[in-house]
Amino acid sequence: MLELKEIQKFYNPGTVNEMCLFDHFNLKVEKGDFISVVGSNGSGKTSMLNIICGSIAAESGQILMGGRDITRDKEYKRNVKIGRVYQNPAMGTCPSMTILENMSLADNKGKFYGFSRGTNKSRINYYKEQLRQLNLGLEERMDTKVGVLSGGQRQAMALLMSTMTPIEFLILDEHTAALDPKTAEMIMELTDKIVEEKELTTIMVTHNLRYAIEYGNRLLMLHQGETILDKKGKEKEEMCVEDVLKLFNEISIECGN
Ligand SMILES: Nc1ncnc2c1ncn2[C@@H]1O[C@H](COP(=O)(O)OP(=O)(O)OP(=O)(O)O)[C@@H](O)[C@H]1O
Ligand SMILES: [Mg+2]
Repeated sequence: MLELKEIQKFYNPGTVNEMCLFDHFNLKVEKGDFISVVGSNGSGKTSMLNIICGSIAAESGQILMGGRDITRDKEYKRNVKIGRVYQNPAMGTCPSMTILENMSLADNKGKFYGFSRGTNKSRINYYKEQLRQLNLGLEERMDTKVGVLSGGQRQAMALLMSTMTPIEFLILDEHTAALDPKTAEMIMELTDKIVEEKELTTIMVTHNLRYAIEYGNRLLMLHQGETILDKKGKEKEEMCVEDVLKLFNEISIECGN
């Protein structure tokens, strides 16, 4: 279980540009939840993920993971249990390293001197097996530098790499946004498969309302740092893209857009 309790987040505190994004924000994520998060640009989605992962600190409030207070834990420490995939496929992989080196690096996340340990023959076969399920032929190109791969190929690798160690939480920030429709579909199906197989508790930010409706057991909409929609289980299943669009339109009229 993951819980954000009474989170307050200011940007540029104490300056003329001070902005309060979250004012006593709360979120309770149950084990096994797959939450789709939608919301307009600037509504606080990435900031929420950054606070969960420890990439930015909140001014006040508490973050609990499995009942343990992790509010003061550094990002690298939280990352042992969290896998994250970003919008930009370049973020999750290292371009100057080969496919093999990238897989090995991910496999040894959090370990010292892990890099050399990761490259024995049986491990290489394991990486190839993992890559084979992508159906992109990457298992035949282990010595290719990742920098020459396409965005979709890199994102597929980023997803594999972020879920290779035994994590509990998967954090996805518009991870299909930079991909063409067919590749985006492939990455979404792969995401769903990995989430189910590894029983990952997942938070997926997306602007693709169809994905938000189709995937996951819970749907959140953020607006100006607040949750304005939270539908679970059957209630979520009954929602359609038009319902979410309607809500989007209502809030943008309210904001004068
Ligand atoms: N480092 C920062 N310094 C100042 N303001 C910031 C910073 N990061 C985010 N903000 C502001 O906080 C608000 C929320 O930003 P955030 O990136 O969380 O939005 P988002 O919902 O992820 O938007 P998008 O859909 O465009 O990715 C925005 O108004 C943004 O300008
Ligand atoms: Mg964002």
